[in-house]
Amino acid sequence: MEGYDELFGGDDYLWFWEPMLSEKRSEREAELAWRLLGLEPGMEVLDLACGHGRLSNRLARRGARVTGLDRSGRFLERAGADAASLGVEVDYVEGDMRELPWRDRFDAVLNWFTAFGYFRDDELHGILRRARGALKPGGRFAVETHDPSLLMERFRGEGILERAGDFLLERARWDPLRGGTATEFVAVRGGETRRYELFVRLPGFTELRGWRSTPASRASAASERTASRSTRITGEWSSSRTPESQRSASSACTRARAAASCSRFAGSLSQPLAPDGWGRGTTAAPSRS
Ligand SMILES: C[S@@+](CC[C@H](N)C(=O)[O-])C[C@H]1O[C@@H](n2cnc3c(N)ncnc32)[C@H](O)[C@@H]1O
Repeated sequence: MEGYDELFGGDDYLWFWEPMLSEKRSEREAELAWRLLGLEPGMEVLDLACGHGRLSNRLARRGARVTGLDRSGRFLERAGADAASLGVEVDYVEGDMRELPWRDRFDAVLNWFTAFGYFRDDELHGILRRARGALKPGGRFAVETHDPSLLMERFRGEGILERAGDFLLERARWDPLRGGTATEFVAVRGGETRRYELFVRLPGFTELRGWRSTPASRASAASERTASRSTRITGEWSSSRTPESQRSASSACTRARAAASCSRFAGSLSQPLAPDGWGRGTTAAPSRS
């Protein structure tokens, strides 16, 4: 069993994180995904690693035809129950995002809340390739993750979440050799202690952009008749914290966009790794053409 299976397979993750994933926040993130992906009612969307469906269900409520894939049956049960109570239909599929069965099926794919970096780089390349293959020509893939350069600015190695007298202790460090965060969590609930370890690879926007031209993606691009030149990797960034820097970031973004390269900060924060809404980024990549 891998570290993320242990963390996401039980109920500690939702118990401690769910209060952060408020209705307001999830609605805001669904709005952002809708906009970044250029969605319209009736479009086919794949939510990769959809978790308990907080975005899938909201995108479906806006009229998208959503498929949510996750490895945790427990999360999918909850996602389905929430869909029923919202009166929306979502096709929830239990599976591994490293093995996608679809070809040319979706208008858009999203992967949200730092659910991208759990694997080795060759597996991450594979996810990008398969997501690309699952997209119709012209489709878009949005990844929401921490951008390491902004995360570093505010990195906080330790944090505690508390809910109803239970505690989740978190100790994180940046691993410069692997380019990601290695985090140890200790959940103390009802007199029991559980320990989890999770490594999250965080390729920054610049690095991710370079992944277009790795040997693996070139080989696959050739075999899939999708020359790497036709994959555009774009993004945006901004800070939700300082309107001033947000303004300059977004004008930099607008300029950079002309050159089809920038990255936008989507704002708010989940983990105590980085306080006050810093450190999460949104990168849209790649679009198929
Ligand atoms: C941090 S949660 C994010 C959930 C959701 N995207 C959201 O925004 O709330 C990470 C999710 O990744 C899922 N996951 C981890 N490894 C996976 C894999 N190999 N295939 C599919 N899902 C996976 C976990 O089960 C968990 O639901």
